[in-house]
Amino acid sequence: MAEFTLPANSKIMKGRKYAAQEGSRLKQFKIYRYDPDTGANPRYDTYTIDLDKCGPMVLDAIIKIKNEIDPTLTFRRSCREGICGSCAMNMEGKNGLACTTAIEDYKGTITITPLPHMEVVKDLVPDFTHFYAQYASVQPWLQSATPEPSGRERLQAPEDRAKLDGLYECILCACCSTSCPSYWWNSDRFLGPAALLAAYRWLADSRDEATGDRLDYLNDAYRLYRCHTIMNCANACPKGLNPAKAIAETKKLIAERAA
Ligand code: SF4
Ligand code: SF4
Ligand code: FES
Repeated sequence: MAEFTLPANSKIMKGRKYAAQEGSRLKQFKIYRYDPDTGANPRYDTYTIDLDKCGPMVLDAIIKIKNEIDPTLTFRRSCREGICGSCAMNMEGKNGLACTTAIEDYKGTITITPLPHMEVVKDLVPDFTHFYAQYASVQPWLQSATPEPSGRERLQAPEDRAKLDGLYECILCACCSTSCPSYWWNSDRFLGPAALLAAYRWLADSRDEATGDRLDYLNDAYRLYRCHTIMNCANACPKGLNPAKAIAETKKLIAERAA
């Protein structure tokens, strides 16, 4: 096991370089390692695996590293098909889902870090407590004073249902919020693109009757208006959603109500 040479004043600890696996199609992964419980500074460890004996996605490589080289490497994953959102991480500077990101998309060593600007629980696992609390704060469920029709669901015209396309598909991976500069600096008060997309999903729902209360909550200099339309969120979303557009629509609803 060799070690990196880092500048003497670096706060990143020297990382470990694990012996390369044998093979003809070798690929290096440089992965952020941090365990707050130890009190030690973070470091990058380097692993080299043979792609001929690995699946095609970055998540396949990380699982292989954990199974065959370093069982202490910690990350989240579940569905491995872009549905659960748990494998969100930063690969070569871009947020995405490790299970839908092809290794082939990157030349050379792939550097992997946790989603930016979140507390780290361990290695690639960020703490989602605050993110989920912000999601819950927009009350992402149907609210209606109209009694439920008996014996059937609340019906919606096809054109009203179509208004939810591009909103309901969010998997709460946080790739958008953690790529948003406004969220980096003001996440204590700015709800961020993921929670705001969820808020608009219910504003856009023809069955929901809490529009006034929802807009009252959102109409705040920080909660909503810290979005400066930088558009990182739409670029980062692995599901192709556009939180910035949802935020703009919410601002429009507030302006129309005030007019
Ligand atoms: S458009 Fe708004 S929410 Fe999206 S990245 Fe920019 S500031 Fe953040
Ligand atoms: S909007 Fe996209 S990037 Fe943001 S949490 Fe939802 S799925 Fe993830
Ligand atoms: S493992 Fe579920 S989205 Fe990647």
